[in-house]
Parts: sequence; structure tokens; C-alpha cells
Amino acid sequence: VDSRQDFKVADLSLAAFGRKEITLAEHEMPGLMSIRKEFAAAQPLAGARIMGSLHMTVQTAVLIETLVALGAEVRWVSCNIFSTQDHAAAAVAVGPHGTPENPQGVPVFAWKGETLEEYWWCTEQALTWPNSPTGGPNMILDDGGDATLLVHKGVQYEKEGKVPSVDTAENEEHRVILELLNRTITDGSQKWTQLASEIRGVTEETTTGVHRLYEMQRDGELLFPAINVNDAVTKSKFDNKYGCRHSLIDGINRATDVLIGGKTAVVFGYGDVGKGCAESLRGQGARVIVTEIDPICALQAAMDGYQVTTLDEVVDKADIFITTTGNKDIIMASDMAKMKHQAIVGNIGHFDNEIDMAGLAKTPGIVKDEVKPQVHTWTYPDGKVLIVLSEGRLLNLGNATGHPSFVMSNSFADQTLAQIELFTKPDEYPTGVYTLPKHLDEKVARLHLDALGVKLTTLSPEQAAYIGVEVEGPYKSDHYRY
Ligand code: NAI
Repeated sequence: VDSRQDFKVADLSLAAFGRKEITLAEHEMPGLMSIRKEFAAAQPLAGARIMGSLHMTVQTAVLIETLVALGAEVRWVSCNIFSTQDHAAAAVAVGPHGTPENPQGVPVFAWKGETLEEYWWCTEQALTWPNSPTGGPNMILDDGGDATLLVHKGVQYEKEGKVPSVDTAENEEHRVILELLNRTITDGSQKWTQLASEIRGVTEETTTGVHRLYEMQRDGELLFPAINVNDAVTKSKFDNKYGCRHSLIDGINRATDVLIGGKTAVVFGYGDVGKGCAESLRGQGARVIVTEIDPICALQAAMDGYQVTTLDEVVDKADIFITTTGNKDIIMASDMAKMKHQAIVGNIGHFDNEIDMAGLAKTPGIVKDEVKPQVHTWTYPDGKVLIVLSEGRLLNLGNATGHPSFVMSNSFADQTLAQIELFTKPDEYPTGVYTLPKHLDEKVARLHLDALGVKLTTLSPEQAAYIGVEVEGPYKSDHYRY
């Protein structure tokens, strides 16, 4: 990277368009904007060097500029090769006061349609800090855990004294990661160990990343404290559900423009994301079928009025298939072989292992053709065509623009408060995985009520005493499930 241009985006001339959309988004993000006001004087993130790995969208731009407004230095990448909005990335790089000729914003390394090599190169750039004692950040803001994973793998291999050979890679992405670590770890080098030693903590956005963190904690491998932002109520019960209710059909519509009403749609998984997706498809008049492995979620789906069955029962009858499980091997090539002509197959879970794209590509005689970026037809020798969205990667961000601002204001207000917690109170968070304290969760919800004209009822002191809470909250115990 050129030292005069410490960022890489697709096209700086898109910055003005990006700035207009950021300005519109700010009004729709009252949580973030009031946090900016509240902490403007205190500057709680002064001294924080935050490396962010989260979809580089318009909404994320408002998050980045909030962190900066609170005193942080920030470097950013997208956490998916297809999810960057190039105008948002350009506007962040240029900054509110810069110009394309004289960019003055935040170093962002992200463009829509990165290769896997570019993706991990970007992650490395954002983790590489000019003027830092260890050459790295002291905070990570992660979505899916890729930045956290890279640091942990680097430390692990430095401890073991060697990086596995690239020949041992399980897949293409693993090969790219091993190449990167082989390149950055030379004999006796402590680059990653030093870098990790300065990191005060990570705040993690999504279910899949949180899952990785709890596994590292269980195995004694976690190197620094983490806040599980996903399980803030104002995150997973809003972003995952209402966000996907908006952005799932947005992705299907922009990709295919097919009429959803009257079609049969299968939603795999009825967790928070699945609930939003099922409702979104039903809202368009689709007949929605749910698959589940968990009896509780299966029963919920049944009581919400959905047929719950297995893929085998419906694979040759349904028109639209959407995976939301955060699990792997949900739709295999052998399943896709049985689907109807012009069935639509897409994933909204975090990683691209829910749909067996490698297996599909190996189908004898199959031909892949690009209709437009992130929309591909796969034609079988008998002429049957499947439409696959975003090559099996999360389609709401690949084919559309992800969740809208208002819901992301909740998630990102949680993120900002979590960053402040970990950065300013290191003594209260020894290495481990934590959720956001409930009073902050309730605070984030409160920040979004006025904009929707919500009038909250106030408890009387007698009522508060009767149900055993304070008048100003928190109102629920930690085991309450909403
Ligand atoms: P969750 O854990 O609430 O739901 C997943 C559901 O899938 C669970 O109910 C589980 O029982 C079910 N499941 C697991 N294996 C299954 C199988 N083989 N067949 C059928 N069902 C199965 O998780 P959540 O919060 O709904 O997240 C799901 C995924 O979506 C995660 O990867 C998460 O990171 C991602 N996510 C994506 C977003 C986006 O904008 N695209 C937004 C939020 C989350």
C-alpha cells in the first residue's frame, strides 16, 4: 500500500453518492447518533485503535464515524467478499471533510467482488497499524470472527514454531490463510503474539462468530476478552429477525425479480434469522415450509402456522430454498439435482458452507453461466436450470444492501457500547466471553422509541417493588427470553 494512500476501495469518485446515503442513514440511526452526542465530550474511545471486520455498507459507515467521533482510530474491512457497497467504502475513505483528490477519512480496504486472496490481504492490512507499539490494533470489532481467527491462528503457529504447509489445506480459503501465515511468520517471529498482547478485546456481531468464541473459550485458547454482541436482545431479536425480514426478499427481488406470491419456499432453520425469513416470504404470499433439527424451534414454526418437514419431502416441489442455519451441508449437490427447473437456491447464514457449491460444480456436464454479478444459472445436461444467488454466500448482502439503517442502529449501538465497555473497563472483563449488561441493552432499545412514536408506560414505585425491579430498570432477569 502506498503510504500516501493507506486504503483500497473500488472507486473514490463514488464518495459523494456514498456521503448522501450516509447522511440519509444518520437520521434513521438514532441510537448511534445519540451515542455520538452523549459521549462527544468524554471521548471514551480516545486511544483505542479499532480494527473492524464487518460488511462495509452505508450503515457501517455511520458506525465507523461514530467510533471516530468517540475518539477512536479505526481501520476497516468487509467480512465478506460480496458485501461491500463501493460508494460507502469510498465515502468513508474520503471522510466527511475530504475530497477524492485529498482523502482524509478512515483507512478502509474493501470492494465488492474481492477474491479470497484479496479478502485476506485486506484483513491483514486493517490489522497492520502505522504508529502502534506492536504494529497492530488494541481492539477488534468482528463479524463472523475472521479477524479474531487470523490473530489466534498466528499466535498458535508462532507458539508451535511452524505454520502447516499449504498442501494440508482443507479448501481454497484455508489455503489462502495458510499462505498468508506462512508469509508473515518467519523463523522465531513473534509478530502475531506481540500484536495479540496489546488487544484489549473483541466485540463480535453474529451468531456464527460468537459460536467460534465460545469454542475457543471452552478449549482454553481465547487470548483476550470478548463481548458477544449478537446475544444482546436488541441485536439478535431485531437485526437477525426484522433485518432479515426486510433484506431476504430484497435480495431475491433484486437478483431474480421473480414473483414470490404463490410460490413454495423452504426455509432451513427457524432460529432468529429463519423466523424473519419465513415471515418475509409469507408476507409476499409464498407458501412457506420450514426444516428444523431442534424440537423447540420446530414446534414454534408449527405454531406459527408453517408446515415443518424434511428437505427430502419437498425437494422436487418447492421453488425457493433459503438456508439460515449457520450449519454446514444443508443443501447438497444430490439435493439440487432433484430440484425443479429454475428453482432458486440461496443462503443467508454467515458462511458459504450451507450449500454444497463445490459438489454442484463437480456435477458431470453442468454449465455455470453469469446472468449478472452474484446471480448464476447452473444448467444440467438435460436442460434443467438452477438459479444460485451470491455463489452460496449471504444473499441479502451479496444481492441487495443488507439490513436497513434503523435495525442496524440497534446492533451498532450495542457494538459501540460494547467497545466502550471493553476498552474503558479492562479490569471488569478478564479473558472470557460476556454479553452486554442488561441496562445497556435496555438503553439501546430506549434510544429507538421516540423515532417510532412509542410512548412508554412508567412503573409506579409500588409496582416496581411488587415485581421486584427498579423503576428505571433493568426490567427482566437474565434468564428471561423475550
Ligand atoms: P440460530 O441459532 O438462532 O438459528 C439457527 C437454526 O438453525 C437453529 O434453530 C438450529 O436448530 C437450526 N439448524 C441447525 N442445523 C440445522 C439443519 N441441519 N437443518 C435445519 N435446521 C438446522 O442462529 P441465527 O441467529 O438465526 O443465525 C443463523 C445464521 O445467520 C448464522 O450463521 C448467523 O451468523 C447468520 N446471520 C446472518 C445475517 C445476515 O444478515 N445475513 C444476520 C444475522 C445472522
